Amino acid sequence: MKKITAFIGSARKKGTYLAVQEFEKYLRKYRDIDFEYVFLNDYNLELCSGCKLCFDKGEQFCPYNDDRNVLIAKLEESDGVVFASPSYAFNISGRMKNFIDRIAFIYHRPRFFKKTFTAIGTQFIPFGKQVQKYLESVGRNLGFDVLKGTTVITPEPIPEKQLEKLKANIMNLAGRFDKKLNKEKLAKPSLYKIMTFRMTRSGLQSSDLRLYDYDYYKEKGWLTSDYYYDIHLGPLQKVIGRFSDFLGRKLFT
Ligand SMILES: Cc1cc2nc3c(=O)[nH]c(=O)nc-3n(C[C@H](O)[C@H](O)[C@H](O)COP(=O)(O)O)c2cc1C
Repeated sequence: MKKITAFIGSARKKGTYLAVQEFEKYLRKYRDIDFEYVFLNDYNLELCSGCKLCFDKGEQFCPYNDDRNVLIAKLEESDGVVFASPSYAFNISGRMKNFIDRIAFIYHRPRFFKKTFTAIGTQFIPFGKQVQKYLESVGRNLGFDVLKGTTVITPEPIPEKQLEKLKANIMNLAGRFDKKLNKEKLAKPSLYKIMTFRMTRSGLQSSDLRLYDYDYYKEKGWLTSDYYYDIHLGPLQKVIGRFSDFLGRKLFT
């Protein structure tokens, strides 16, 4: 049975919760799932102090001993992940942002490649998709296989017409999510993703600084591999990859 975890950035059980509940309901129409709601508000997560020890020396050096690792374990245990947040001042909630900051070292050392990720943004105004788009970029940077999410309008109370629209949007998202969950193969990386991977790794090799990322890349075999995971690159991707290695060496020496 697939395990799906929704991380919710609102302290209230209102609009965002409703959207995620609908998502669960529709997803259950396709398959039997183990679905968990993670209200970030229920976890003890200190504000990131910006010391950068997680980047430079390793996440084990984080000065806080709180629920960060509990939340990371939930990401690791999941086959599918949803990040859902209300829009606060045209972006994600502070609670969600702090969670992302606390796991941002994973941007440097991405994982979760086989896992499906999507984003749900909730907001009052009927235009703009900043929350959804930002959360999608977070999923990509963490290494997930990202499915385009949705933005739903959740005024209080929600008029019937708006509720119908929300349900239709979420139903569509659940259908697409289910299809992606079924995919066995790892996603083919875009040229942009190949370039960032290759420039980063050749930069790490060329730099005099021996950051923790270097050890991590070495341990994973990423200092010599074509990409983060085993994937066949076409001729153009190979050339771009080699050029990016060269560029990374030039930029970071
Ligand atoms: C501090 C704060 C800032 C907000 N800023 C925006 C905003 O910039 N744009 C918007 O459309 N809605 C904004 N809203 C409305 C919420 O996004 C909307 O009510 C959402 O449904 C709340 O989610 P919840 O019901 O799960 O708490 C804001 C709400 C709060 C509390």
